[in-house]
This record gives sequence, structure tokens and C-alpha cells, in this order.
Amino acid sequence: MAVFLKIKLKAYLYADIDEYNKQHDTTLNNTTPHDTMLNNAEQQEILRRRTFAIISHPDAGKTTLTEKLLLYGGAIHVAGAVKSNKIRKTATSDWMEIEKQRGISVATSVMGFDYNNYHINILDTPGHQDFAEDTFRTLTAVDSVVIVIDSAKGVETQTRRLMQVCRMRKTPVMVFVNKMDREGKDPFDLMDEVESELGIHVRPLSWPINSGERFKGVYNIFQSTLDLYTPNKTQITESLRFDDVTDPQIAELVGEQDALKLQEDLEMIEGVYNPFSREDYLAGDLAPVFFGSALNTFGVKELLECFVQIAPSPRPVEAVERKVEPMEDGFTAFCFKIHANMDPNHRSCIAFFKICSGKFLRNTYYRHVRENRQMRFSAPTCFMAQRKETVDEAFAGDIVGLPDTGNFKIGDTLTAGENLHFKGLPSFSPEMFKYIENADPMKQKQLDKGVSQLMDEGVAQLFVNQFNGRKIVGTVGQLQFEVIQHRLEHEYQAKCRWEPLQMYKACWIESDNEAELEMFKKRKAQYMAKDKEGRDVFMADSGYVLQMAQNDYKNIKFHFTSEF
Ligand code: G4P
Repeated sequence: MAVFLKIKLKAYLYADIDEYNKQHDTTLNNTTPHDTMLNNAEQQEILRRRTFAIISHPDAGKTTLTEKLLLYGGAIHVAGAVKSNKIRKTATSDWMEIEKQRGISVATSVMGFDYNNYHINILDTPGHQDFAEDTFRTLTAVDSVVIVIDSAKGVETQTRRLMQVCRMRKTPVMVFVNKMDREGKDPFDLMDEVESELGIHVRPLSWPINSGERFKGVYNIFQSTLDLYTPNKTQITESLRFDDVTDPQIAELVGEQDALKLQEDLEMIEGVYNPFSREDYLAGDLAPVFFGSALNTFGVKELLECFVQIAPSPRPVEAVERKVEPMEDGFTAFCFKIHANMDPNHRSCIAFFKICSGKFLRNTYYRHVRENRQMRFSAPTCFMAQRKETVDEAFAGDIVGLPDTGNFKIGDTLTAGENLHFKGLPSFSPEMFKYIENADPMKQKQLDKGVSQLMDEGVAQLFVNQFNGRKIVGTVGQLQFEVIQHRLEHEYQAKCRWEPLQMYKACWIESDNEAELEMFKKRKAQYMAKDKEGRDVFMADSGYVLQMAQNDYKNIKFHFTSEF
């Protein structure tokens, strides 16, 4: 540890990073500092952090809920302050709108605020499904997730897909059933739907009294209190509270019939569902459920209060080499998102790093593991509500934004010196594929650079067909192709042309049987491609072709994600 510190301190003395690198064998920095822990006060800082994302199908109420949480945190004072980060369908070809949206999404990428004694970081995820890949990656940087479901629509496609990622990573999930002020599905039916569609056990921690026009409030099972519904779109209102569901006053307020129905429902809940277990929630096996109306700031406080108490503080993160504990003294972080600058004349980006362990300090040298060199950052930013602020220090659980001029790729690791590689940034098979061609022969270099950087930024995925050498860009939706073309033109002065390609799925393949794998690659040569990491990918042009391949080559596994 002493050697390690000495090296770190000495790094201050060298003005030029390259000079520093030249004079020091960076492998010297390979000491493993994880045997020492942060001091008590610093550990407390980490324990009070709650870093999570809100996910939903577009229009379920993610933006509204985020805003109301910020309102409770005192981070904003009026509703309507948080701009929606979604690119609306009508704006598909409106470039100004897309640029504007990109700007908004940088401002709202991470929203940090303090609530009671907790420090909360909400990571925003793009609502538009064409940017689902962005959302998948953001989910690798959170310690838990809140899923918003529209009470009338139930579980929708986007939610189902995002939940798959949570399940893969065993991320603890909490559900907020929104829009109870509208006529919705029966809450018991909704619970069944969540269980079967999202593949997770549920446990209601609050329960609604009716919905729509007859919506009267929510009984908070977690705290044994009753909140009566008073619609209020702009302010936080304290609702009346009762400690016991059999209190005769409840019947006076909601009516005899509804009070009785509530008692029956609660009995049923106790009978049908197991008692809430925090352990199961933290293991990602059980989702506590809350009901409310984000628009009316109703049920949000209950969600927030329960959330801060039961949601996990920063969790250990698996690296290839070892498991990294948040309380370790040595700083480690990984890059999960790169956001391009709005100004096309300055091709600088912000690289978002999730701190996995230790403490980050401004102007301190850290090791960029992939490039094996030291870097320090004079203007790192943290995000408080909607402000970006330069920070001097940040802790495990926090997200720091590092100004970047093309040094970072998604998945890069920064450490205090250790040679460490974080796992868990999967790529998913794209849904749409096109050949990308150069439309201006004089600008081949610019095009190659632009495509390479945009792919590093995670805008889309690039595959190179091994048979004909042609480049294939895979996306989740049409909008991404338009964004790539626009950005190539405006940021790299390159022009591209798209050629249609009929493709079903990209499958990452593996097998214990080397000979069979080689045989497969030979036989299917025209379908074989490499992804940007050089991994073998089988590009199936139809479901039938894939099925035939699966039948014929029993020893080969076909994966729809790059991580398996
Ligand atoms: P999203 O980020 O998940 O896409 O959803 P967002 O919060 O933008 O909400 C989608 C629409 O649903 C918005 O209406 C919003 O006002 C409405 N909404 C959110 N929560 C509730 C609720 O509890 N009850 C009711 N009745 N509506 C709710 P919009 O008309 O599409 O947009 P806006 O003009 O209100 O911004």
C-alpha cells in the first residue's frame, strides 16, 4: 500500500503524463490495494448512497415520477421542471429536436439529491425504444431499479425487455403501479401479470382503495398507515394517517363498503403472499409493489421512504480478476456511457463512470487500464438535480462525468493502479441491420474514424462480414441509423449510405467442441461476422436458418447477448 501511495503522490510532480509513464513501469502500479478499507466516515458516505434507475414502457410515467422524487428531495421546487428525455415519435426526422433532446439527456443523465440522511442518484434512461441499448448499459451501473407500470396497461413490451437485463444481473427491483387516478386493471390481476410476465415474485407493500374516479387512497402495508387521496399536481400534501386498518374512522372517510373491501383485500394479501423479505428483494427474487399516482404526487413519498430503507447501498461488482467491494480503499470505476458534446465544433464528450470502490479525487492520477497509462482529471463533474458541478471527491456508488476527447470506450476501467477489468456490459442482438457504405470517396478516413468512435460510444453495433469484408451496422431502431448518418456528417464531415440487409438476429456463438465450431464457421462462411471485440457472430437471416443451424450443430450454443 505504501509503495502504491508513493507512486500515486509522485505522479503529481510530473506535468506531462507521457513523461510520467515513460519513467515508470506502470506494472509497478499493479499492487492490489484492496486489502485496506476506507475510514469510518468514508464508509458511512458509501452506506448512505442509493443509486438506481427508473424504467418503464414509454408513457407509463417515468419522467413524472422522477420529477416528484426530486420534489421530495428538495432538488426542485415546482413540478414541470424536469424535461422529458424522450424523443417523441413525431420528432423522428426533426434534427433540431433530436439535438435538443440529446442536450436534455446530458443534463438529466444523473440526478443526485439528498433525502433525509441518504444520498440518492437517479440514473436516467432514454424513453425511446430505439435507444434501448443505452438503457441496458445504464442498468449495469445501478444498484437497484424501480419499474413504473401503467395501471391500465399493465406490463408492456419495453418493461419486459428491460426486466430481462435486471434478471440477468439479479438487480433488486421495486414496482410502482402508476395512474391509479384512472380506471385500471384489478390490482390482484396486475400482481399476477407482473409475476408471470416479469418472472419475479411480488409482495404488495401498499394497496389501493379503488381506482379512477372512485380512487380513495392507498393503505401503506409497510408502515401500517392509510393515505387518503387528494389530487394535487403541484405541491406535496400531507395526507391523513391511521395506524390500524380496522379503525372505524376509516369507514367514515372512505365509506363502509370500501373500508370492508380494504380489510378483505389485506387479509387476502396476507394469505396469498409470503411476508416481505428484504433478503429476497436484495437477491432480486422478490419485488415489493407500491400503488399511486405520480402526476398527483400520491403514493410517491411512501415509495421513496421505503426505498431508502430497503434498497441496497452500492453493491460489490464482479471484475474478471476478482470481486470488488465498495468499501475498499483503492478507487475503481467503469465507463457505462459516453455522451457526445452538443457542439459539433468541439468533439469532446462526457464519459460517465460508475465508481465501484473507494474514493475518487480530482486532479489525481488514475490508471486507464486498457491503455495502460495514467490520467488525471481537472474538471470531473457530478450531477446534482439538474446542475452539473465540478467535484473534488466522489464515492463508490456515485457517477462522475469525465470530459473526454476520445480516450474512453464503453466498458473501460479506471483504477488507482490495479490491473482490473470489469465485466457485465453486454451487447444485445440488434433488431435492424444495414450495410454502411462510403458516399464520399475522398472522406474514407473520416468515415472510418467516425464509425469507430460512434461505435465506441455505444450508438450502435458494428459487425464485419468475414466473407465479403463489408461493414454491417446493427441497431434497435430506425432512428439510430438517422442519428449516425447525421452525426457522421456534422461531426466527422463524412457521408454514408445505407444498403438494406435482410437479417433476423446476430448470435454470438461458442462451443466446447472446437472442431465442430470450426466446421460450422467454414460451412456458414457467408453468414459469419466479427463484432468490434473480434468475437465470432453468426448472422442469421431468418428464424428458419437459425433453427436449422441449432438443429444441425447441437454442440454449438447460440447467444442473443454478447455476455453468457
Ligand atoms: P414516461 O416518462 O414514462 O414516458 O412518461 P411521462 O412521465 O412523460 O408520462 C406520460 C403521460 O402520463 C404524461 O401525459 C403524464 O402527465 C401522464 N401521467 C403520469 N403520471 C400520471 C398519473 O399518475 N395519472 C395520470 N392520469 N396521468 C399521468 P402527457 O399528456 O403525455 O404529457 P404532458 O403533456 O402531461 O407532459
